[in-house]
Amino acid sequence: MPGFSTNSSLGITWLMKNTISCLLNCVIFSVWSAQALEMSVGKIPFLQAVNGSTVTLPCTYASCIGIENLYFNWQFNDNGTMQKVCESVIPSEGVVPDVTIFRERVEFVGKNHQNNVSILLLNITFEDGGQYTCFGRNPKEHHKNHSAIFNLIVVDELREVDNTLTIIIASAVGGAIALLMGFMLLKNFTLFVLTKLEEKNKECLVTSSGIDNTENGLSGSKADSKPTPKKK
Ligand SMILES: *[C@@H]1O[C@H](CO)[C@@H](O)[C@H](O)[C@H]1NC(C)=O
Ligand SMILES: *[C@@H]1O[C@H](CO)[C@@H](O)[C@H](O)[C@H]1NC(C)=O
Ligand SMILES: *[C@@H]1O[C@H](CO)[C@@H](O)[C@H](O)[C@H]1NC(C)=O
Ligand SMILES: *[C@@H]1O[C@H](CO)[C@@H](O)[C@H](O)[C@H]1NC(C)=O
Ligand SMILES: *[C@@H]1O[C@H](CO)[C@@H](O)[C@H](O)[C@H]1NC(C)=O
Repeated sequence: MPGFSTNSSLGITWLMKNTISCLLNCVIFSVWSAQALEMSVGKIPFLQAVNGSTVTLPCTYASCIGIENLYFNWQFNDNGTMQKVCESVIPSEGVVPDVTIFRERVEFVGKNHQNNVSILLLNITFEDGGQYTCFGRNPKEHHKNHSAIFNLIVVDELREVDNTLTIIIASAVGGAIALLMGFMLLKNFTLFVLTKLEEKNKECLVTSSGIDNTENGLSGSKADSKPTPKKK
C-alpha cells in the first residue's frame, strides 16, 4: 500500500510537471513571439560536405497544442529566389505524409517519425550549396508561419579550417568530459571522505557506548567487528 501511493503520487507529480512546463512554454511563446509551433534544424545549423556525398538536412517540429493538417516545405534560397524543394501536409502526428519533391536527388527521410521532417540530398554538387529553409504552418494557430534555416557548404575537400574546428570541438568536448570526470572523482572522493568520517564517528560512538555499558566484553568485540564489513 505505501509503495502504491508513492508511485501514484510520483506519477501525478511527473504529469503535473510536464503539463505545467508545456503550458508555460505555450504561454511564454504566445506572450513573447506568439509561437506555439517550432521548427528546429538542430543545435548546429550548418554542415560542410564534400561534393558527391550524401547529406541529411535535419528538421523537426514541436507544438504544445498539437498539429492538424500541418503544412511544411523545404525551400532553397537560389540567389534570393526561394525555390521549393519539397512540400506536404501532415494530417496528424505520427502519420507518414505523401511528400511532393521538386528537386533532383532529394528524398524525404524524416517520415514524420517523432516529428521528423528531415530530407536527404544525394550526390551533392556545388550548386546544392546554400541556404535551406524548413518552413511550417499549423492551421490550429491561425496560419502563422514558422521556419528554421540550415546552411549547406559544399567543398571539394575538407580543408585545414574545419580540421582546426574539429580539433577545437574535440578538445572542448574532451575538456568538458575531463571536467565532468574530475567533478565525479571529486564527488566520489568527498563521498569517500564523508563515509570514512561517518565510519570514524560510528566507531567512536560504538566504542564509547561499548565503554559505557561494559557487558562482559561482548560489546567490545562488536565494536571491533562492526566497521570491518563496511571497508571494501
Ligand atoms: C568534386 O569536385 C572536384 C573538383 O571539381 C572533382 O575533382 C571531384 O571529382 C569531385 N568529386 C566528386 C565525388 O564528384
Ligand atoms: C547566382 O549568382 C551567381 C553570382 O552571383 C551567378 O554566377 C549564378 O549564375 C546565379 N545563379 C542563378 C541560378 O541565377
Ligand atoms: C530525423 O531522421 C533522420 C533520417 O532518418 C535522422 O538521421 C535524424 O537523426 C532524425 N532526427 C531526429 C532529431 O530524430
Ligand atoms: C550518385 O552517384 C553514384 C556514383 O557516384 C551513382 O551510382 C548514383 O546513381 C548516383 N545517385 C543519384 C541519385 O544520382
Ligand atoms: C506566411 O507565408 C506565406 C507564404 O508561404 C505568405 O503568403 C504569408 O503572407 C505569410 N504569413 C505571415 C503572417 O507572415
